[in-house]
This record gives sequence, structure tokens and C-alpha cells, in this order.
Amino acid sequence: MSDYQFLNAYTFANGATVKNRIVMPPMTERSAFENGVVSNDEIEYYRKQAGGVGMEITGCANVSKLGKGFEGELSVTEDRDIPQLSRLAAAMKSQGAKAILQIFDAGRMTNTAILRGEQPVSASAVKATRANSETPRKLSEHEVEKIIKDFGAATKRAIQAGFDGVEIHGANTYLIQQFFSPDSNRRRDQWGGSLEQRMNFPVAVAEEVRRVADQYAPRTFIVGYRISPEEIETPGIRLDDTLTLIPRLIKSGIDYLHVSLNKAWQTSLNDSTDSQPIIEKIQKVVDHQVPMIVVGQLTKPADVEKVMDAGFEFAAMGQELIREPNWVQKVMANDEKSIRYELSPSDLDELGITEPLWDFLKGPFKDAIHITNE
Ligand SMILES: Cc1cc2nc3c(=O)[nH]c(=O)nc-3n(C[C@H](O)[C@H](O)[C@H](O)COP(=O)(O)O)c2cc1C
Repeated sequence: MSDYQFLNAYTFANGATVKNRIVMPPMTERSAFENGVVSNDEIEYYRKQAGGVGMEITGCANVSKLGKGFEGELSVTEDRDIPQLSRLAAAMKSQGAKAILQIFDAGRMTNTAILRGEQPVSASAVKATRANSETPRKLSEHEVEKIIKDFGAATKRAIQAGFDGVEIHGANTYLIQQFFSPDSNRRRDQWGGSLEQRMNFPVAVAEEVRRVADQYAPRTFIVGYRISPEEIETPGIRLDDTLTLIPRLIKSGIDYLHVSLNKAWQTSLNDSTDSQPIIEKIQKVVDHQVPMIVVGQLTKPADVEKVMDAGFEFAAMGQELIREPNWVQKVMANDEKSIRYELSPSDLDELGITEPLWDFLKGPFKDAIHITNE
């Protein structure tokens, strides 16, 4: 068998052991029912992906009704969601992977049609710069507190459903990031203003999730946090802001930090004179107090081993695991030459790729997913 470091197990400080360092990052399939209940197609998809990886993270699941970002998204807003979430967790764990539910709120990254007539909400009434975005309504202080509790309630449902952990989605421009960003957060109450005040919402969510996990879950339950280190808007999140937030998140009791980047080794989007990869800067601050997950166009075993060589604990592969769900098994069987690096339409059934996922892949991911013409 291959002796790659990424095949070694990892044990968290809380005692949870992950069988290897390969993570399937959150990737929505857009295949839940209209009300957000997990569909059986989705369960079968995650089961196929669960064989090799150490940790499998679901696509985002909204914690509050107004937090729904797109059609076909998973919901964890009601106890009604628990039975199918339980089947999902069981499928994900069936071959020893850790099953993690990504919990999120879309904030302003949605629209009135998806919310069935309701106006989107956010930290402030500032619309996103992307095309066709709608101006959100500013959340009241009472509503902000309610959403923090919703993250806690979602965590409790994840525990009841049998997940091994949750990942707080603090990245990719969604509500938690909207509160941290001086672009989308123009508030002057305790939830906005200075950098210190803009950290309050992300930290409060992390603390609430930790509190619920401590109260209801086994000791080995994993609380992860996904972060986007920078924004290009001015004003917007800069690396130094993120390097200030991270120690606060660690203090609030997260078990891992997942850095969301398009390319794992990319450097600052805002400072072209800075040649140090962002993940190295973050690693310096994290200093192994919690493990880190690195992601972004990692595809080959050598790419992943390079992440391990640099001292990171986990590597996530998104699109590559869609193309090749048996990636880990093939590496372990010394069969690297049969790993697929392209997605052939004739393989869709075998890969369990649903119509909505296929449509999504042909949209924003068209160039990176490497579709062949066969
Ligand atoms: C189909 C698809 C769906 C995604 N859905 C989510 C999601 O629900 N939550 C999230 O945090 N990131 C999501 N992402 C981003 C991935 O987690 C990952 O960060 C990104 O694909 C880059 O990694 P890669 O180059 O290995 O694919 C999605 C990506 C893809 C391709």
C-alpha cells in the first residue's frame, strides 16, 4: 500500500479519530425537496462518496427560513427535517467517514422568489455587487439574536440526527461573512461598527454552537468553521481582519478551521506585492491549536502530499471527488493511473450525479470541472 502521509489517521484533541486526511468539502447537490427535506437521491450520492474519505461534509443546510439561498438546498430549520437527515448521516458514516453537516444562513445572497415573496435579510440594507441582487432588509437586534439561536437549534438537530459534527459556514459571502464585512455591515449597534464589533456575530454563532454541542453531544462531536480570508470590495474584509478574527474563533471552542480558497496556494487578492500564500499566514496564527483544512484545485496525490509536507492537517478535494469518488481507494490500491481527472457525461449515472447538480456543474464550474465531450 502507498505510504502517503495523507493516508494516516488524525485524532482531534476531543478524542475523535478521522481515518485519513482527505476531506470531501461541502458541495451542494441542489437535490433536496422543495421544502429542504433530504431526498433519497441525495442520500445515495453521499453514500457513494463516503467510501474513502476521512471526513465528508454536506452541502450547506439553512438554519432559518429566510436563510435559504437556492432551490434544492438542505434545510435544518425544523424537527421535521431530522428523519431524513438521520438517514443521510448513516449513509455518510456507513464506511467509517466522519459525517459533518454544514450549517448556514444565506443572508442577502438569495432573492424574493426563493423566499416565496419575503424580502432577503442581512446585517444592513446594502445590496451585493453581483448582478440581479436585491436590497435586503436590515435585521433587527431581536432577529439577530434569534438567528444565533437558530444555529444552536440546527446543531441540536444535527446531534439528534447522528452527525459527528457541524461546520459553521462563515465563508463564501453568506450571512456570517456579511456581518464580518465592512461592505455589507454598516450597523452602529453591538453587531457592527468597529472591527471588534463586526466580530461579535461570527463569535456569538461559534459560541452558541459550542454551547449546544457541549450540552447535548458526545465529547467527540466536531465543531468546524469555514472562513473566506478576503474580499475584493472596498471597504471589505482584508487579511489582517481575518487574522484578528481567527484567534477569537479558536477561543470560542472550534475544533477545526477550513479556509475557503479557489486555489490552495493563492496569495492576497488585494496586495499583489505580498507573495506569501494566504494559508501560510493563517497557519502562523493558528499554530496547530486546531487543525486546518486546505482546499482549492487539489487533484493529484502529489498536490495533497504537498499540503501535508507543509504541516497542514487536512486537504479537501471538491470537484476531483465529484469526478472520482474512489480517489482514496485507488490510491490505497496502488491504482493511481485509473484515477479520473475529467468528467464524462457517460459516467453521470455511475457517479450518481443528479440533474440539478449536473446543471450547476455546467454553469459556474464549467471550466474547472473538466467535462469531456464523450
Ligand atoms: C457543485 C459545488 C457545490 C458547492 N457547494 C458548496 C456549499 O454548499 N458550501 C460551501 O461552503 N462550498 C461549496 N462549494 C465550494 C467547495 O466546497 C470548494 O471550496 C470548491 O469547489 C473549491 O474546491 P475544489 O477546487 O477542490 O473543487 C461548492 C462547490 C461545488 C463544485
